[in-house]
Amino acid sequence: MEIEFVSERAGAGGAVAVLAVLAFEGGVLSPEAEAADKAAGGAVTRAMAAGRFGGAKGQALDFLAPAGLDAGRLLVLGAGPKDGFDDLGVEQAAASAYQAAKGSGLTTLTLRFPSLTAERAARAGLGVRLAAYRFDKYRTREKPEQKPSVARVCIATVDPGPAKVAFAEQAAVADSVCFTRDLVSEPANVLYPAEFAKRVEALRGLGLEVEVLGEDEMRKLGMGALLGVGQGSVRDSHLVVIQWKGAADPAAQPVAFVGKGVCFDTGGISIKPAEGMEDMKWDMGGAGTVAGLMRLLAARKAKVNAVGILGLVENMPDGAAQRPGDIVTTMSGQTVEVINTDAEGRLVLADALWYCKERFKPKFMVDLATLTGAIIVSLGFDYAGLFSNDDALAEGLAAASKAEGEPVWRMPLPPQYDKLLESPAADMKNIGGRWGGSITAALFLQKFVDGAPWAHLDIASTAWKKGSTFPTIPDGATGFGVRLLNRLVKDKYEEA
Ligand code: BES
Ligand code: MN
Ligand code: ZN
Repeated sequence: MEIEFVSERAGAGGAVAVLAVLAFEGGVLSPEAEAADKAAGGAVTRAMAAGRFGGAKGQALDFLAPAGLDAGRLLVLGAGPKDGFDDLGVEQAAASAYQAAKGSGLTTLTLRFPSLTAERAARAGLGVRLAAYRFDKYRTREKPEQKPSVARVCIATVDPGPAKVAFAEQAAVADSVCFTRDLVSEPANVLYPAEFAKRVEALRGLGLEVEVLGEDEMRKLGMGALLGVGQGSVRDSHLVVIQWKGAADPAAQPVAFVGKGVCFDTGGISIKPAEGMEDMKWDMGGAGTVAGLMRLLAARKAKVNAVGILGLVENMPDGAAQRPGDIVTTMSGQTVEVINTDAEGRLVLADALWYCKERFKPKFMVDLATLTGAIIVSLGFDYAGLFSNDDALAEGLAAASKAEGEPVWRMPLPPQYDKLLESPAADMKNIGGRWGGSITAALFLQKFVDGAPWAHLDIASTAWKKGSTFPTIPDGATGFGVRLLNRLVKDKYEEA
């Protein structure tokens, strides 16, 4: 996909181009839509009078070979209320234009949107890049007509030069989200812990420090919970430690991100039902997001020290697998009775969080995990669950979430639910019973942060999309969280 920034006076691209312009709610044409209407002899106005197009988001008018216009097609997209047309609106309109044009048969898409400053034009480029993501490496028989036809997107802006400069950063955002999407999309026979680690090691060229711990090292550290989850798999477990030192002082206190990387979750001996089990290839989505985030911080040379920790395991049933009733000792010294081997993510994170806190003493830790089906019951598929012991951190995350269009909803950590995790045989058990399952999972994690500022994002709801209604998110791996956490770092934790 080639993205170019062109002057507002440049041609639309001729017969091979789709020209996309906007209209706002109430049928208010943007200046560019008005110009197109005029050139096409009032075709847009007539079409609006003869139909139901009123400029609402999701609506579109599509004109084939419009007479009088320098384009093969004209697309008028609804952009919603005019005063709500913000940076995110630009991004979504650009993504919608790509979605509407990609299968048109034409090769160029020209965006003429109102008042695209350099920053906003770059944001439109980001929208297009995210919308155009495909994971097609295993589709060997795809016919050309099944592939998108649009190969070049021209974005008209007041400032093509500065827009190109601003797009360098947004292109890094897109590349990193797509890096995460690729990891999360890979099947588990290809992306097992060692392969995941290898793909992260390949990022050293960007200036990231990457360490890969094996099972012997983790045993020495006392990570009995993480190792217990992986012990039924023929694939070795790994802990990946990624460091980005972008602050003036390389020893300055870092921010830290910890990801659940269960490369496949069968449930273990507490095995899951067959139907839908294939979804558990994306149970490493949290680790995928942390990897993409660290890639992005390095690519844009963020002025911050950041740590990313990935707990990589495969949860399999086997003669060597951990059993219900087993008691494991975590790195923290706390013991856990494993009632259900399918509540494995929290066991992996227990050791990863403790290790992170002990070694790096970070400003805060944010963990990401496809942790519970219950979060989908609570919030549906459009919101991730946010849990935090620190209001300032939670508020920072909520603000970043709004700016980047990755919704989160804060959930409680009620201390009175702690007793649901009590075990007669160990310090705690790994499940809290049927009700409030996402909350008891988060309360479990909280026992391994030792009071440090911490937030937990349960992304079981948002890491993967089926039947997406978001123009920037094609079906499949979403890369949820990369943008949100990048924004948090950028707005709150970077040096000037
Ligand atoms: N990886 C699953 C959670 C999940 C479910 C992610 C659906 C994405 C989509 C997790 O390891 C799990 O199995 N959780 C159990 C916990 C239960 C045993 C307490 C669950 O949610 O059922
Ligand atoms: Mn599980
Ligand atoms: Zn899992």
